[in-house]
Formats: sequence, C-alpha cells, structure tokens
Amino acid sequence: MQKTPEANYPEWMGKLKKSLQQTRGAPESRYFQLATCDFRGMPQVRTLVLRELDSTSTILYAFSDLRTEKIAELRQCNDCALCWYFAANREQYRMSCKATVVTIQSDPNRLRACWNTMSEQGKKQYFWGHPKALLADSQTIKSEATTSEPPSHFCLIALEPYEVDYLSLKATPHHRMLHTKNNDEWVARAVIP
Ligand SMILES: Cc1cc2nc3c(=O)[nH]c(=O)nc-3n(C[C@H](O)[C@H](O)[C@H](O)COP(=O)(O)O)c2cc1C
Repeated sequence: MQKTPEANYPEWMGKLKKSLQQTRGAPESRYFQLATCDFRGMPQVRTLVLRELDSTSTILYAFSDLRTEKIAELRQCNDCALCWYFAANREQYRMSCKATVVTIQSDPNRLRACWNTMSEQGKKQYFWGHPKALLADSQTIKSEATTSEPPSHFCLIALEPYEVDYLSLKATPHHRMLHTKNNDEWVARAVIP
C-alpha cells in the first residue's frame, strides 16, 4: 500500500479550505455534524457552525454553551467524530478528533474576541435560559438584552483531527483518501471508496 508523507500540512486541509472557499456564498456549507459519546456509551450527534479554521495547527473551532450536554460528554471523553458534506462540491470529510473546551477562565481574551464577532441575534441565544430545561405551560422564552462581556457559559470547542477520511463523488470512480496523524506527521493513503 502506498503511503504518502504529508509532513505537517496535510492535503485534506488544502482541500477543506478550497471546499469552504468554493461554497462561501452558502451559509450551510459551514455546518458540520459532531458526534460524542454519552454517559450510557450511546452516540449523540448534532450540528455546529465552523467559526474558525486554523490551517497551520489544523484545528477547527465552534462556539458553544458550557451548559449543553455535549460539553459534559466531551469532558468525560474528548474523542469525538465529525462529518461534513459539501453538497455543491460532492465532497465528504469525516474526522476523528480530540476536543478541548476553551472557557472564560482558561482564555478570557480569546473568548471576548469570539463573543465580539457574533451578531446580537446570536448573542441573545445565550440568555434564553438553561438548555434543555422544561418550559412550563404557557411559558415563553424571553429575549433578554445581551451583554458586551461574554456570559460565563459561553465557550469555544477546539477540534483537533488525528484521522481524516476524505471522499469525493465528483468523478467516477470516486476518490477516497485516508489521512492519519502519527507523532505530528500526517500520512495519506489512497483507498478504494
Ligand atoms: C444549523 C444549526 C447550527 C447550529 N450551530 C450550533 C453551534 O455552533 N454551537 C452549538 O452549541 N449548537 C449549535 N446548534 C444547536 C445544536 O445542534 C444542538 O441542538 C445544541 O447545541 C444542543 O446540543 P447537545 O444537547 O447535544 O449539547 C446548531 C443547530 C443547527 C440546526
């Protein structure tokens, strides 16, 4: 089997940047699905928005709320998986990642900068109340005013992939590459889709 050393800049990162660039007019192209493992050992999956991509460190960032279940799940087991399909490009990325939760306590300046990039509408969601708390009969969600400082439950999820499975359906036969990170070096293998 042919293995191609990719050093510290894997080919998948170039492809992902290109996929994002080519679909930049479609907001949904920044949505990916993140799967975690819950306390029963069951998979849990949900949609997140890519907020930042650090192509040098190959880390993906999403904003979230410390009070949501995914955060407790990631704190229990920081191995997670994401799946991303770019419909316009017919490309799928599946990644196995290590997650780190960045909080106001761990990096206040970073969190403040992230908070400031959000729209008022986006900020308001963080003041609706505790996620998944039951709504009483006839209770309505109040749209509280936002604050210039991020609330203490605002957080950043940093996702660092260590395996990337890339599949392109653009041409026939399809093209699939497995990228693996070993001791900071990426290696790619072409496989049968
Ligand atoms: C299009 C879309 C984008 C979303 N983006 C985010 C996001 O960036 N961060 C986030 O925490 N939740 C986001 N959500 C909500 C999550 O999918 C999920 O419902 C919520 O975070 C609670 O998940 P949990 O209970 O599994 O932790 C988004 C949902 C949709 C449909």
